[in-house]
Amino acid sequence: MLAVENLQVSYGRAQVLFGVSLTAPAGSLVCLMGRNGVGKTTLLKAIMGVLPVRSGAVRLDGRELTRLAVHERVRLGLGYVPQGHETFPQLTVAENLQVARETAGNRRAGVVDEAFDLFPALRGLLKRRAGFLSGGQQQQLAIARALVTEPRMLLLDEPTEGIQPSIVREIEEAIRQLHAAGLTILLVEQYLELALRLADRFVILDAGEVVRAGPAGELGDESVRRLLAV
Ligand SMILES: Nc1ncnc2c1ncn2[C@@H]1O[C@H](COP(=O)(O)OP(=O)(O)OP(=O)(O)O)[C@@H](O)[C@H]1O
Ligand SMILES: [Mg+2]
Repeated sequence: MLAVENLQVSYGRAQVLFGVSLTAPAGSLVCLMGRNGVGKTTLLKAIMGVLPVRSGAVRLDGRELTRLAVHERVRLGLGYVPQGHETFPQLTVAENLQVARETAGNRRAGVVDEAFDLFPALRGLLKRRAGFLSGGQQQQLAIARALVTEPRMLLLDEPTEGIQPSIVREIEEAIRQLHAAGLTILLVEQYLELALRLADRFVILDAGEVVRAGPAGELGDESVRRLLAV
């Protein structure tokens, strides 16, 4: 479903991705891993169109997205939860979700209810400004905001980073349910045990290149652990 081919991305003159290729088959959950600073977030931003690419291609179901704007990619079915969640702090929970629905082109009203089924705690916080939510609640809102655009493919950048354990469990369960419901997911996750529980496949980046990829079962291998050890 998602195919990334030979992506090269730079910040000014500093090149960060050196020809990254990966695929996420329909319905799969692919875990993107690697140490701090190897280019995981840069790759997700390039897939989403938040960052321009120097060369290479991004395709969703065979359709080339590489030159499209972010909102056009959203309309074609890409959803994105950025690292550090980045909700609109001055807007209420309800307004955050409304803005996302409009970006995606006025999706069904029912999608908001479906997102609340996944994170029931948000239902009671509709009128609360996002900036006053806990970090974990903001992360749940950021995921809900991506879901109301009704993505077919979801990009999640370290959704459990710095989040209290009880909410990490809720987020893990939500990801599991979304995957079971057929959503294709590319998940950036540094916590190996979580990746082992959730992923079908994994890709490891190091210094802007894919150094290993395979079925999730291989994540337990000593050679894989070495690539992730700090
Ligand atoms: N806006 C920017 N301008 C210049 N360099 C940047 C910028 N953002 C990231 N970088 C650099 O690009 C490289 C990759 O960063 P990136 O954020 O993609 O890594 P990451 O794998 O997501 O790291 P982390 O695990 O810490 O989130 C790093 O060397 C980083 O310093
Ligand atoms: Mg990152």
